[in-house]
Formats: sequence, C-alpha cells, structure tokens
Amino acid sequence: MKSLLCRTLTGIDDLTVEEVATPKPGAGEVLIDVAAAGVNFPDVLLVQGKYQFKAPLPFAAGFELAGTVREVGEGVTTVKPGERVLAIVTHGAFAQQCLARADRVMPLPAGADLELAAGMMFTYATSYHALKDRGQLAKGETLLVLGAAGGVGLAAVELGKLMGARVIAAASTPEKLAVCREHGADETIEYTKEDLREALKRIAGAKGVDVVYDPVGGAYSEAAFRSLAWRGRHLVVGFTAGDIPKLPLNLPLLKGASLVGVFLGAFMEKEPIAARDNGRQLIEWLAAGKIRPHISNRYPLERGTEALREVAERRARGKVLVIPG
Ligand SMILES: NC(=O)c1ccc[n+]([C@@H]2O[C@H](COP(=O)([O-])OP(=O)(O)OC[C@H]3O[C@@H](n4cnc5c(N)ncnc54)[C@H](OP(=O)(O)O)[C@@H]3O)[C@@H](O)[C@H]2O)c1
Repeated sequence: MKSLLCRTLTGIDDLTVEEVATPKPGAGEVLIDVAAAGVNFPDVLLVQGKYQFKAPLPFAAGFELAGTVREVGEGVTTVKPGERVLAIVTHGAFAQQCLARADRVMPLPAGADLELAAGMMFTYATSYHALKDRGQLAKGETLLVLGAAGGVGLAAVELGKLMGARVIAAASTPEKLAVCREHGADETIEYTKEDLREALKRIAGAKGVDVVYDPVGGAYSEAAFRSLAWRGRHLVVGFTAGDIPKLPLNLPLLKGASLVGVFLGAFMEKEPIAARDNGRQLIEWLAAGKIRPHISNRYPLERGTEALREVAERRARGKVLVIPG
C-alpha cells in the first residue's frame, strides 16, 4: 500500500510517499481501506516531534479517517468486512490502509458521505466534549469561538448553535468569517483588525460571554478571559498561535469564573462509554444533516504535504482532506 511516511521528525517538507507492506490486523484491531482522511493541526505537530506523544518512526500521520473495513482481527465482533466506518487513530490515516483499535471504529449509516465523515469526528468530538461535558453550555448562553474558521473552531460554531447558544465567531480574515456565518455564527469579529476586548464589549455588553472556546492561545486568551461573564467558563483547547499564555489568577476569582481543560484523547481513554455516546450522537446529527463539516480542499496522497502545509500556514477553512485513492 502507499503511505505518506514520516522518517525523521523534521516536519512536513521531509514526508515522502512510499510503498510499504499492508499491515495485518491483530487481536482487537480492524484494517480499513481509507476513502478519506482529515488533516488536523496536531498532524503538523506530530511530524515535528512536538505533539503530546511521539509515534514510532517511520510512521504515517493522520488521526481520523473514513472508509470500508477490509479485515478484522481476532475477537472483533462490532464491525465486519465491507462495512463503511469512521475511525480515530493515534497515527496512520494518511495511507491507503490503516489499522484501528476496534473500540475506536464506528459504523456509519447507509448512504453516509465518507468524505464528510472523514473530516468530522476528531474536530466535532473535541468541540462537543468541550461545550457539553466541560463547558456545560446552556441554551440561551453566549459562546465566543476563537480561530472559529479552523477545524475544531468551525465545529464549535455549528455545535454551539445546535445547542441553542448565541455564537460569536472570531477569526483572522473576512473570508474566514464568511464561512463562520454560513455555518451559523450570529456575530463575527476580525480579531487581527479589531481589538478583541473592545469588540466583545460592543457585542456582548457589560455582562460578557458565558463560554470561551479557545484553540488559539497567545494574546487572545487573556483578552477573552477578561470578557467572561460572572460564572463564565474558558475552555482551553489548543495553542495554534504558538505561545502558551499565562493568566493572572485574580481574574477567575473576580468573575467566579473557571479555566477548564479539554483533552479529547484522555477523555476517550478514561471515559470510553461517554466518549462513544458522544460519537454516536455526532454520527446521528451528521446523517440528519444537522451538522455539515466544511471541506475546503481535497488532496491525493501524492500531494499530502500540500494538505498539511495549508493547515500549518493558517490558510485552511474548516477541513482539508487527504484522499489516498
Ligand atoms: N484539546 C484537544 O483535545 C484537542 C483536540 C483537537 C485539536 N486540538 C488543538 O486545537 C487546535 C486547533 O486544531 P485544528 O485542527 O482545528 O487547527 P486548524 O484547523 O489549523 O485551526 C486553527 C486555527 O488557529 C488559528 N491560528 C492563529 N494563529 C495561528 C498560527 N500561527 N498558525 C496556525 N493557525 C493559527 C487559525 O485561525 P485564524 O487565522 O482565524 O486566527 C486557524 O484557523 C490545535 O492546537 C490542536 O492541537 C486540541
């Protein structure tokens, strides 16, 4: 099979498409023919050795995929060959076939669009866990989403609307904000032009926002935290701006507010039943057309490095896919 291999932790430019042996599924594993794989910012970090864990070299990156089950290992009864599925993996989705743990593979309803499914789970599962389990976002509350046109950001915009919140989307360009509006944002802020704190005073008034969804970090985090309402929740999701911000601890005190961590991988490991319930809910919403992942670009495996570069260089809107073919 063909695989977009990372042989050295030196970044996107050194990835190469190579022919490698197709793996055999071991006990509890499923081998999937990959129809499409979603690109996520953590892929960029993984091939630089900067992610929370390191994959054994050489490896293909890629955390999420959809496709057709080719073979199942011993003891797997939840899916069977020929079935259309999506999966979350620790790496390996940027290849023609990928091994997945059976408990991380979910069947798709008949007729499900494999490309939409491929670009859905990692981002929407993160944002749903963040808004529902960690942020306890309630109907009628105000939600601010930073980096709102990115993968997890746009998922948070859609899910926030679906959960009945008033959604304020903040992003760096008018084109990105237009995508946020298409996906339901009520208000938008171009935070590279307008001061975030001032814009939030204008939009959310003296009360402030109830929940901040923050996958960006940098200077935006403190400005957003300072704009929280009484009992507000600031969800720490990621740090694409590069800097991990530090927060003066008097701010949560003054607002009775919470700084809440979000970590999808650990949630799936420590609370597998709740994580699968969330996954099932998302697949149901996808099938019903209540969520619709935005695919901004598709690349064949041979041009997979371009897909990763689009995400790394802040150009992606919604999801970029790799189509192994
Ligand atoms: N905690 C978890 O469980 C979890 C799970 C999945 C992902 N994450 C994290 O969430 C973050 C976003 O992931 P994603 O896949 O959604 O990424 P993405 O699609 O690339 O979106 C990230 C957004 O960050 C903004 N950004 C600001 N400064 C940037 C910079 N210097 N370079 C690149 N982007 C920049 C961009 O929006 P603007 O241009 O509009 O500013 C971009 O749209 C990452 O840090 C990732 O590790 C966390």
